[in-house]
Amino acid sequence: MSVAVEFRNIKKAYGENVVIEDLNLKIEQGEFVSIVGSSGCGKTTTLKMVNGLIEPTSGSVFVNNEDIKSKNLIELRRGIGYAIQGSVLFPHLNVEQNISYVPNLLNKKDKTKTRDAVAKWMQIVGLDEEIMHRYSNELSGGQQQRVGIARALAASPSLLLMDEPFGAVDEITREQLQKEMKRIHKETKITILFVTHDINEALKLGTKVLVMHQGKIEQYDTPKNILNHPASDYVNQLVYRQRHMCHLSDDQLGDCEYSAVSKV
Ligand SMILES: Nc1ncnc2c1ncn2[C@@H]1O[C@H](COP(=O)(O)OP(=O)(O)OP(=O)(O)O)[C@@H](O)[C@H]1O
Ligand SMILES: [Mg+2]
Repeated sequence: MSVAVEFRNIKKAYGENVVIEDLNLKIEQGEFVSIVGSSGCGKTTTLKMVNGLIEPTSGSVFVNNEDIKSKNLIELRRGIGYAIQGSVLFPHLNVEQNISYVPNLLNKKDKTKTRDAVAKWMQIVGLDEEIMHRYSNELSGGQQQRVGIARALAASPSLLLMDEPFGAVDEITREQLQKEMKRIHKETKITILFVTHDINEALKLGTKVLVMHQGKIEQYDTPKNILNHPASDYVNQLVYRQRHMCHLSDDQLGDCEYSAVSKV
């Protein structure tokens, strides 16, 4: 297995305030990594250091075994999908133009290729072609979110960063989007780093879960191990309710009910 992202001795401070102390982590290609932890623990900072939106105070980030310091940041970002909470669509561009923005930059000459990519991604994220020519103020929150995800995926990135991408949608849309993401991950095998506040969502979606607390890694493990073998009091508290409720229907957590009984 090759390593998609590596954080090596990463420290990030804002003035005196050290927000990431000494982050060391290797993320293998093809993982769906859910990142959870309390507000302000450094999740967004960690994500933004991968696409160079935030520079570490010291240490290095490697993407596909290359130190991003040695890379052109614009090129780096074109190869990394980035989807964040709420609508971040270009308001003066319609749905089709939003999704084709990066593919257009990448394959300037081949319009058919770009059109095909737009149609494909709209279908994958569950958007009707009918809305292709609408602007973001003519879309529902859930549709905007889907367009944002399609846009992040349309450049065929091998790495996708998502920062609470489903934060602004209702419960039903959220569940649909979770299913789509899971399917997209299965189909494309891309590496995904997915920040969420919701431990249930993290356990459901991730092949690995990264639990952060006060700028440090508490545990990086499979959902099953996070749930059944929490490495610290913090992780234990985080999954306590889940272990008792255990309504996670996911096959990854198939023996969750059993473990709930045996653990308590
Ligand atoms: N530009 C900045 N200047 C100073 N401090 C900052 C800056 N950006 C973030 N911080 C601080 O760094 C810490 C980590 O912030 P970060 O945004 O990574 O947290 P987070 O885990 O994403 O939180 P949330 O769950 O609320 O989104 C916080 O204490 C925050 O106040
Ligand atoms: Mg954040």
